[in-house]
Amino acid sequence: GKVRAPTHIISTISDDRGEEPCYAGVPMSTIVEQGFGVGDVISLLWFKRSLPRYCTQFIEICIMLCADHGPCVSGAHNTIVTARAGKDLVSSLVSGLLTIGPRFGGAIDDAARYFKDAYDRGLSPYEFVEGMKKKGIRVPGIGHRIKRADNRDKRVELLQKYAHTHFPSVKYMEYAVQVETYTLSKANNLVLNVDGAIGSLFLDLLAGSGMFSKQEIDEIVDIGYLNGLFVLARSIGLIGHTFDQKRLKQPLYRHPWEDVLYTK
Ligand code: ACO
Ligand code: LMR
Repeated sequence: GKVRAPTHIISTISDDRGEEPCYAGVPMSTIVEQGFGVGDVISLLWFKRSLPRYCTQFIEICIMLCADHGPCVSGAHNTIVTARAGKDLVSSLVSGLLTIGPRFGGAIDDAARYFKDAYDRGLSPYEFVEGMKKKGIRVPGIGHRIKRADNRDKRVELLQKYAHTHFPSVKYMEYAVQVETYTLSKANNLVLNVDGAIGSLFLDLLAGSGMFSKQEIDEIVDIGYLNGLFVLARSIGLIGHTFDQKRLKQPLYRHPWEDVLYTK
């Protein structure tokens, strides 16, 4: 009989051994001929299944809305400085990507984790927020440097509007909004930010689509898939900033002395 040599690698998402590459079993020709979009490709390669159109469109909206946010934010700033230091595309891109984390763009997974845990345990927004405060943890998905109660983040509104129209349930997002109502009573910059909106709405997508078991949802949240949406999206903008600086032939950046407080 056949002897199967043990393999050193296991892979379950794609296969290029046949006539054409397949993503989660779907051949490339089907992807092209049936007009799949980038949301479908993400569904296949990240979630290993074809999700309904309203879900793939939501993924695409997240990507489009998070693609860029101007030159002043952490990621773009790093990319611009790196490009101006004469570095190549990949170096400029990763320099920006490395700023994505718990304060900037990378709070989506933690927002999903904490909102899910609090909602599933039936905590009131007061109990949740004050409990976090006692633990000395800022609520992920809440707060913004420039957005305020009277100057809301349009991206959040657009995501909420889409979900209200297309999702069967928005219970996690509604919980996040109740949390926001409570945090806004404390300070007017403690709005639900785009990370919090995506984190809570993705919980609604996972739970409401009927495509994931409870165990699969827990695994997605535990592993932390969702920051991947921001990383992927913002790469589009960071690549754009690199090209922009090169096109403008910008010289080496040096921060002005006047903008540094030299002190002992
Ligand atoms: N939860 C609870 N209290 C908060 C929060 C929060 N998420 N954010 C700010 N505060 C309160 C705290 O009392 C804070 O005081 P502290 O420094 O003693 O903790 C006070 O507001 C002042 O906060 P600042 O540091 O001035 O707020 P800043 O404008 O610098 O922070 C930030 C903005 C980093 C987004 C912050 O709100 C935060 O850490 N949020 C959680 C992480 C998050 O969601 N990041 C994603 C932002 S959206 C994006 O990057 C695309
Ligand atoms: C962003 O998407 O980059 C912003 O929300 C962050 C910021 O500081 O404005």
